[in-house]
Amino acid sequence: MALTRAAAVAHLAVALDGSERDEILRLAGLLAGLAGTVKVGLEAFTAHGPDLVREVGRLGVPVFLDLKLHDIPNTVERAARNAARLGAAMLTVHASGGEAMLRAAVAGAAGAERPPAVLAVTVLTSLDDGALAGLGIPGGAAGRVRAWAEMARAAGCGGVVCSPHEAAGLRAALGAGFLLVTPGIRPAGAAHADQRRVATPRAALEAGADVLVVGRPITAAPDPAAAAEAILAELCAP
Ligand code: C5P
Repeated sequence: MALTRAAAVAHLAVALDGSERDEILRLAGLLAGLAGTVKVGLEAFTAHGPDLVREVGRLGVPVFLDLKLHDIPNTVERAARNAARLGAAMLTVHASGGEAMLRAAVAGAAGAERPPAVLAVTVLTSLDDGALAGLGIPGGAAGRVRAWAEMARAAGCGGVVCSPHEAAGLRAALGAGFLLVTPGIRPAGAAHADQRRVATPRAALEAGADVLVVGRPITAAPDPAAAAEAILAELCAP
């Protein structure tokens, strides 16, 4: 499954996790031509808020706003509306908030001029089956992810965040047109850190992922642009 470079770039989302505004903007500028999306998540958002989202957006690369909203439907609807107005292309909410909350998020996001795709975070890629059992959730990650993905689709979400391990099963079950966004991406030899359900960029793509979310393997590399280039080369290799 060889890709053109433009297609590989479109598949890559770089997670700009950090607390230093200047460093986040430096990385966003550096990686703008190497990633289809840059992700602003909780660390950066709690430090710099909506202004940072607007500033990153002005660099010309679509923003993936990973706020993982999880609250009662009314609150999530209003928060999703505010978040959507920041101009993000994608916005996350937790599937475990339930179907009514997901519907509320979609309704709230629809209030923006250009509504973002609302993505439901299924089971965090830092959790394995043992950790789920410890939370009192039986049956393992695969079954839970599948059930929550079906619920998310029924609620009108544009896709889900899942691990690369579930991507092939979800693609087969849900068909094309429903975004599968996979964190837990680790190039061969990279440190797993707190991630548990991981795969290489190529394996995730071949499993059917649309967007590969990569954070530390790029942002913590001595040369982030070179690390991104290496991932693009892996995706483009015949
Ligand atoms: O540094 P790393 O590649 O592990 O970053 C992964 C990013 O994806 C982080 O920003 C994390 O918040 C996010 N994420 C995740 N697992 C999910 C949803 C989002 O790791 N299920």
